[in-house]
Amino acid sequence: MAASSIAKNATSSLGRTIKTVTIIGGGLMGSGIAQVAAESNHKVILVDQKQEFLDKSLNIIQTSLKRVIKKKFDKDQQGGEKYLNDVNGRIQTSLNLEESLQSTDLVIEAIVENLGIKQKLFKQIDQIAPKHTILTSNTSSLPITEIVQDVKRQDKVGGLHFFNPVPVMKLLEVIRTSSTSDETFQTLLAFGKALGKTTVSCKDTPGFIVNRLLVPYMIEAIHMIERGDATPEDIDTAMKLGAGYPMGPIELLDYVGLDTSKYIVDGWKKRFPDDASFKTSELLNKIVGEGKFGKKTGAGFYKYSK
Ligand code: CAA
Repeated sequence: MAASSIAKNATSSLGRTIKTVTIIGGGLMGSGIAQVAAESNHKVILVDQKQEFLDKSLNIIQTSLKRVIKKKFDKDQQGGEKYLNDVNGRIQTSLNLEESLQSTDLVIEAIVENLGIKQKLFKQIDQIAPKHTILTSNTSSLPITEIVQDVKRQDKVGGLHFFNPVPVMKLLEVIRTSSTSDETFQTLLAFGKALGKTTVSCKDTPGFIVNRLLVPYMIEAIHMIERGDATPEDIDTAMKLGAGYPMGPIELLDYVGLDTSKYIVDGWKKRFPDDASFKTSELLNKIVGEGKFGKKTGAGFYKYSK
């Protein structure tokens, strides 16, 4: 890919330009977000608590960048090497939250899905980050409003929800709370565009758009197995060939992570006990209880070679 086709940093009549992004949490999602932000010309600071986590993140990014480069620079080895160096040059890692926030324009939190831990983190970030910095979460199931409840800059908060694998999935959900200002919202939309993503917006509702529809669908597929209606293989084949989905629901559950999926449905069931679309599953509980979390652990509904 020629340098000229790299997306330029975002500007809009109302929004601010995002130049530096601090990403907190270097798991699969945080690494993917760091990669696409750096590829689109942003300076990225990736923060985690241990060096081994950051090393793992950098490995994930390198592996993914190699796939990107193989595709984009098929017959241009030099171009590929330059691209890799340039992107890597825009990614810094840090174990120091305070330092990582000094001159950042945007924070994207991508840590564990635990409300209490996120609330504490956001309170801390709010006290350290410059006044203009926008604070966002990549949560897939928790209310942004509750995550940022102790943040003073309520006009500068929002949700940026990415999809796995981040470098491939074209969507970004931009969530505005009732306090998110128009300027913040426009800045986040423009940032999404600069990343090369198509943005959709959603109110701060459970699961936003995608997970609100996707999670109950995947859980219903497990209920089909529990009832003996169909095998996992046939359910997956049916949805791939009959509905045109790239993965069937059971395959996708293994891909997303069964622990993550269980966490989401359990949380929603607890919060909204009367909502029939938020169902839990005994079979899911059993498999997760056995330590089978899907592709990442080598086994879930299916087995995977590592
Ligand atoms: N980094 C860079 N490129 C990658 C990549 C990565 N991590 N993973 C895949 N790719 C690229 C490959 O290089 C390949 O490129 P080409 O076609 O140009 O060669 C392309 O993506 C397809 O990959 P593969 O050929 O390896 O495999 P595939 O065709 O089976 O596609 C898939 C894999 C993209 C994951 C596809 O199966 C898919 O879209 N699955 C659905 C994923 C999905 O629904 N994600 C959302 C989950 S929900 C979520 O994330 C939200 C939440 O909060 C839980």
